[in-house]
Amino acid sequence: MAYTRITAAEAAALIKDNAYIGLGGFTPNGVPKAVFRELSKRAISEHEAGRPFQVGILTGASSLQSVEGDMANAHAIKFRAPFSTNKDFRTHTNLGEIDYEDTHLGHMAERLRHGFYGEIDWAIIEVSDLEEGENLCKAYLTSAGGIAVTIARLAKRVIIEYNHFHNPSAKLLHDCYEPGECGFARQPIPIIHVGDKVGKNYIEIDPHKIVGVVECNIPEEARSFKAMTAETQQMGYNVAEFLVKDMNEGRIPPQFLPLQSGVGATGNAVLQALGQNPHIPHFEVYSEVVQDAAIDLIQKGIITNASATAMTVTNETLKTVYDNMRFFKQHLVIRQSEIANSPEVIRRLGVIALNTAIECDMYGNENSSHICGSKLMNGIGGSCDYERNGYISIFTTASTAKDGKISAIVPMCSHVDSTEHDVDVIVTEQGVADLRGKGPMRRAKEIIENCAHPDYRPLLREYLRIAEKGHEPQSMRAALSFHDTFMKKGDMRLTDFGDYLK
Ligand code: COA
Repeated sequence: MAYTRITAAEAAALIKDNAYIGLGGFTPNGVPKAVFRELSKRAISEHEAGRPFQVGILTGASSLQSVEGDMANAHAIKFRAPFSTNKDFRTHTNLGEIDYEDTHLGHMAERLRHGFYGEIDWAIIEVSDLEEGENLCKAYLTSAGGIAVTIARLAKRVIIEYNHFHNPSAKLLHDCYEPGECGFARQPIPIIHVGDKVGKNYIEIDPHKIVGVVECNIPEEARSFKAMTAETQQMGYNVAEFLVKDMNEGRIPPQFLPLQSGVGATGNAVLQALGQNPHIPHFEVYSEVVQDAAIDLIQKGIITNASATAMTVTNETLKTVYDNMRFFKQHLVIRQSEIANSPEVIRRLGVIALNTAIECDMYGNENSSHICGSKLMNGIGGSCDYERNGYISIFTTASTAKDGKISAIVPMCSHVDSTEHDVDVIVTEQGVADLRGKGPMRRAKEIIENCAHPDYRPLLREYLRIAEKGHEPQSMRAALSFHDTFMKKGDMRLTDFGDYLK
C-alpha cells in the first residue's frame, strides 16, 4: 500500500494557527526541511492578510534556519523548546517575543510523554526509507535520532518527509528504543557497552495518522563551525594532558573511559588532541553528536566505537559514512536523544563529560547560556545531562573573550547552568583547574592561578580579599562588578571594587 503523496506546500497548508509541531532530527541534521520552508512563507502571507499565525516548535535539539530562523523572523513562533543555536531565533527571543524553554535535551521525550507541552498536533519526520504497511508504517530515520520515536507516537497527525538525499543504508546505524512508563513498566536501559543495540532500526508509526508523504531531495543544512585557533588547540592539548595524568595516576582505567564532547571547534580540537596523544589508548565515544573529527578518528581506528544521537557533520563527511556503511555500522550507533543523554547510561559507562562554558566563577559554577545575565546565547543543550552524571565533568573556555575585554573567569557567574557541585575540572588555554576533593578556597586558588588570564588574576585575588569571610567568601555588593563594569565601560579590566564597596 502506498501512502498519499503531497507537496510541501500542501502539507504546510494543513497546519493551523496555534498548532504544536514536533520534529525529528537533532542539530541541523536529520531535521525535516521541506515543509518548514513553505510554512515560514505561509506565516508571512497569513500575517499580511491580517490573520494570526504562530506555532509551537518542539525538537530534539537545535534545528535549521528554515525551522527557527525564518519562522522567528516571520514572528511565527509562539513557543519553542528545548535548544537553539540560531542567530535570528536568539534575536527575537532576546526581544521578548518568544516563549523559550531552555531545557535538558535528555528530558525532552519524557516531558512530551507526560503532557508538559499539552497535545502535540503534528509530527514531521525525515526518513531515508519507508515500509508503507497497512497497519504499521516502518520509518527509517536519516542522520539523527532526536525525539522521533516519541513524537511520532504521541502526535495526532504525522507528515513524513522522504528525503532521497539520504542513503537508505542509514538504517544500519539506528537503534530506536523508548523506555516504558516511569514508575510502572520502566526497565533498566540494557546498554552495557557503548556499541550495544537494544531497540529496532526503524520507528513505528500508525499509518492512519499519516496525512501524507512529501518526497524531496534536500541536502543537510550542515553548520560550519569556526576554524580551530591556537587557543582552541591549546585547550585540546591541556585536556589531553590532564586525562593522561589522570590515567597514569589510576583515576581513569588503562583501557580509558568513553568520552562525550560538546558541539563546536573546541570539541573537535579536543578529539584531535586525544587522537594525536601517543599515551591515550584507542577510546570510545558516548556522546550527543559525532562531528567530523570523530568520524575521521573512527576511520583511523582511534575511536573504536561511537554512540550519538546525531551525525553533526558536513555533507561531504556524511557521504563518506554512507559510502562506507559496511565499516561504519560496526563502529557507530545513532540513538534517540533520551538514550544518548540518559543519566543511567552515562553513569553506568563512566562517561568523561566535556562541554564549553561562556563563563565560570572562581568557585566552579558555570554559565553556558546567558551573556551578562539577561541575554540568551543558545541554551544548555545536553551539557548538564552529561556534566551532572559524568564520571569526570570538564568545562573548557577561552580565558577571555572580545579581545580581552571580558574575563571568562569571574567572581560570580551572571547566570548558572552547571553548579559548582557538578563541575570537576575547568580548562582554559592558560591551564587546568582540578577542583576534585577541594573546598571553595582551594578551588578559587586553582581557578585563578591556573585558568584565569594573567590580566585578570590580580583583580580576582583582590576580590577574594574584600569578600565577606565564610565558607565561600562573597561580596554581595561586588560579586557582579566585572559584568557591571563591562556594561558601563566596555572592559572588565577597568573594574574598581572601590566603586562597589562605598
Ligand atoms: N561574555 C560574552 N561573550 C562571550 C563570552 C563571555 N563570557 N564568552 C564567549 N563569548 C562569545 C564569543 O566572543 C563568541 O562571540 P562571537 O560569536 O561574536 O565571536 C561567542 O560567545 C561564542 O564563543 P566561542 O568562544 O566562539 O565558543 P563556542 O562557539 O564554542 O560557543 C558556547 C560557546 C558556550 C556558546 C556553546 O558551546 C554553547 O552554546 N554551549 C551550550 C550548549 C552545549 O554545551 N552544548 C553541547 C552539548 S549539546
